[in-house]
Amino acid sequence: MTRVELSRRLSAVIPNAALEVVALPEVPRIRLALLQESYPQHLLDSDTVVSIMNTPMYWAFCWASGQVLARFIMDNPQYVKGRRVLDFGAGSGVVAVAAAIAGAKAVVVCDTDPLALLACACNAELNDVVLECAPSLDGYSGEIDTILASDVLYDRANLAWLQVFLDRAPSVLVADSRIRNFGAENYRLLSASSGYTFPDLDESQEFRQVKVYLGSRS
Ligand SMILES: C[S@@+](CC[C@H](N)C(=O)[O-])C[C@H]1O[C@@H](n2cnc3c(N)ncnc32)[C@H](O)[C@@H]1O
Repeated sequence: MTRVELSRRLSAVIPNAALEVVALPEVPRIRLALLQESYPQHLLDSDTVVSIMNTPMYWAFCWASGQVLARFIMDNPQYVKGRRVLDFGAGSGVVAVAAAIAGAKAVVVCDTDPLALLACACNAELNDVVLECAPSLDGYSGEIDTILASDVLYDRANLAWLQVFLDRAPSVLVADSRIRNFGAENYRLLSASSGYTFPDLDESQEFRQVKVYLGSRS
């Protein structure tokens, strides 16, 4: 039912687009309902491109930073195991699903887009994990040990969240490919690797270099 509703909302913005369930290329243990890989993005007319810009369907993609952070968490479960984690700007919920599989005690997905929360519910079911939904970090009052955030810094206004994350949780994992000189106080580089958005948006090489940072209270 959730997936049918998501498909309906997707095709209302991108004509004839459908969702398909795929195993993530870099994290095949995770299955997500995403925009079909074969969708002919190059054939989109200008009206449709404007419509997509006005109603971005972020949740229909697994962003490069999301795929890299999910892989990082699966390879390094100690960052989430036994912890209460919150995935900020969850989109499809890829990182939250990875945290749940890696042994987090409880996982909350937070996204301002109600459709993203619906996508998270759909993808939780596909992966047989439990995710709690929160429409905003401010409105969520539960205890959080670790905040996870991937590809949320495309909007420079979100840089201010880096400090808020540390006010809310003792540790933070951020994955990003958008900010060239990150330099945020109390964050240090943990890893750098290449990754890509799925389905592939043919982003420039620059946006395929994903860095994972650990934030902790000093
Ligand atoms: C580019 S997507 C990344 C999705 C996912 N983390 C991934 O890596 O695939 C960014 C997501 O952040 C959400 N977002 C942006 N600003 C937000 C905010 N202030 N609070 C919560 N979610 C936010 C958007 O709605 C969108 O779903």
